[in-house]
Amino acid sequence: MKQQTAEGVNLSEKLGLSLPLFAFSDMPEVVAAVSLAGGIGILGALTSDQDELDRRLGWLDEVLGDRPYGVDIVITAGDHKAPYAASQKAAEASIPQGHWDFVENLLAAHHVPPLSEGEERYHVHAVGLAVEAETSAQIDIALSHRTRVIVNALGPVPKPIVERVHQHPILVGALVGSAHHVERQLATGVDFLIAQGTEAGGHCGEISTMVLVPEVVEAVSGRVPVLAAGGIASGAQVVAALALGASGVWTGSVWLVSSEAAPYIHPVIREKLLAARSSDSVRSRAMSGKPMRQLRTAWTEAWESKASPGCLPAPLQGVIHHSTMPRFVAPGAIYDSAIPQFLVPGAEPLCGYPVGQVVGRLSSVRPVAQIVEEIRQQIEASMARLNRIRYCSE
Ligand SMILES: Cc1cc2nc3c(=O)[nH]c(=O)nc-3n(C[C@H](O)[C@H](O)[C@H](O)COP(=O)(O)O)c2cc1C
Repeated sequence: MKQQTAEGVNLSEKLGLSLPLFAFSDMPEVVAAVSLAGGIGILGALTSDQDELDRRLGWLDEVLGDRPYGVDIVITAGDHKAPYAASQKAAEASIPQGHWDFVENLLAAHHVPPLSEGEERYHVHAVGLAVEAETSAQIDIALSHRTRVIVNALGPVPKPIVERVHQHPILVGALVGSAHHVERQLATGVDFLIAQGTEAGGHCGEISTMVLVPEVVEAVSGRVPVLAAGGIASGAQVVAALALGASGVWTGSVWLVSSEAAPYIHPVIREKLLAARSSDSVRSRAMSGKPMRQLRTAWTEAWESKASPGCLPAPLQGVIHHSTMPRFVAPGAIYDSAIPQFLVPGAEPLCGYPVGQVVGRLSSVRPVAQIVEEIRQQIEASMARLNRIRYCSE
């Protein structure tokens, strides 16, 4: 049986990394900066339409040359074949009127006006609509670029997709939130797993990284490398993850306050991220219908309150959230289809962002290269400290 450490070296070696640091971001500049700094950036495809994804990957090919990057897709269970717009209309029609009324009352309480007839301000994708058509096209696009890694966020990657990707020199990874998911994932032929603890920003399970990583490492038993995710934003946390048996780390939240992310994050949200404490990151179904760790906002609080009709399952809750978001955006304020540049003032308390518990330690905006260098130095310092402890106890 192969040793976990050998596999781990192998994964970083295969990708030519000088640091076993994987960085999820849906912002191409962040992805590029991490890959240039010695880790690997993985571009989230969920928020892009096909043209935008193609453009973004073309840009990464140009900027990165031989440096590796990856693409993160979201394949959810289900059979959603209809095109996106049709799926959204059908989903909207199946949402109970009581839920729409609840949203109307919430927005009225925050003085957020309705859109005028036929007005369009800002469009975002809800998770789980038109999945089949969208993900298959995303994979085609990823395969037509220099992508080195493809990762799936939710559930097992269907085996035919893994086989198709493996016809190219591309590694396939998948996230797991419980050791019980390991066998199902490995059966599809993935090359590595990401054990993502409940601390993580975005969709997450209930088990903490500290408990989950060794459980997954033991269940995997050296068959593939395991990356640790959730609550990792410093070198000491990287060392802790490696000590738990991980071969590297998979990160997300820490990049949200990088300088490269600034054009994508509304200043109001950035200030919320910088001011938030660890306990301001809550696990709620209010944004997508699946438990997602995000900033606590008036929106999450309202859906958890006694007056709430209860969150609907995905994709319906996501459709409610995503059809409401355009009303938060001031008219005429569309920023390059990525983020709204201006918010309706009353909407500010309702606006949040997926982020993990490490938000509590994100207190300044710095370039990605500086964050990576700091992590590198902290790893050295933590290793030296552990060595000192070892010698003291001998
Ligand atoms: C803003 C944001 C969006 C995310 N969206 C996705 C996604 O689309 N697909 C995915 O696989 N993971 C997504 N994640 C989770 C990350 O891949 C990663 O597992 C997580 O951020 C790691 O924990 P951390 O936030 O404590 O670093 C997202 C995380 C954040 C913060």
